[in-house]
Amino acid sequence: MSYPQVKSFTTVFKKLLIALSGLGLVGFVVVHLLGNLTLLRSDGAAFNAYAAKLESFGPLLAVAEIGLLAIFLIHIVTVLTTKKRNLDARPVAYRQWRSKGGDTPSNLSSRNMAVSGSLILLFLGIHIWQFRFGPGMSQGYIATQGQEQIRDLYRLVVETLKNPVMFLFYSVVMILLGLHLRHGIWSALQSLGMTRSRTTTPLRLLGAILGVLLGVGFLIIPAWIYFGASI
Ligand code: HEM
Repeated sequence: MSYPQVKSFTTVFKKLLIALSGLGLVGFVVVHLLGNLTLLRSDGAAFNAYAAKLESFGPLLAVAEIGLLAIFLIHIVTVLTTKKRNLDARPVAYRQWRSKGGDTPSNLSSRNMAVSGSLILLFLGIHIWQFRFGPGMSQGYIATQGQEQIRDLYRLVVETLKNPVMFLFYSVVMILLGLHLRHGIWSALQSLGMTRSRTTTPLRLLGAILGVLLGVGFLIIPAWIYFGASI
């Protein structure tokens, strides 16, 4: 293979990796949202039971977490190396934002993928530290389920999201997540070769609908807790 052929093979391979890892993350986000919607049940028992059920999977959960971390890393590293290569090739950015032509849209979501992606990454660091590695039963976060004592994760989430700074931070990130997914889903389907002239509009609509549904779905949770829930 000649050098330009190797280069274009690498580019296509990286685009596929970004698309597949991105869609894998969308899958996680959908499942995470469905689980988190139990937070809307007022006494917290449903959410704590859900979290305890996950915890009971033990080593299987650890394997899933390592897999998820690997998918996140693949997504982030591939995006960053592709971005660096593009910057090396074109150090001066275009002065005007415009659609690259054809089917690629230029809009608020597509132009701000780096900003929304970076803030989601910052959010994830804080979020996992707060909840996954946050206080547990030994720090007094204890709920009862029948005869059993389980971690009162509901209390931790409610205490966290009742803080106005955290409420605002979560709300902004959930909007950015919706925007990131709106363009990301469409872009991933395009990279996988699913967009033909007839499917372009429906698939773009699919990306937009899923982005809005997931963004709004996640946005409801901090709002519900901040304005309504009590412990
Ligand atoms: C209102 C929004 C959200 C709430 C209330 C929430 C809640 C939680 C809670 C309670 C945990 C700890 C689970 C446990 O330890 O069993 C968790 C873990 C996690 N969350 Fe969220 N989450 C939200 C949004 C998000 C979003 C938008 C993402 C991704 C973009 C995300 C990614 C994660 C990840 C990767 C973990 C660690 C999973 C694990 O290690 O098992 N979360 N979340």
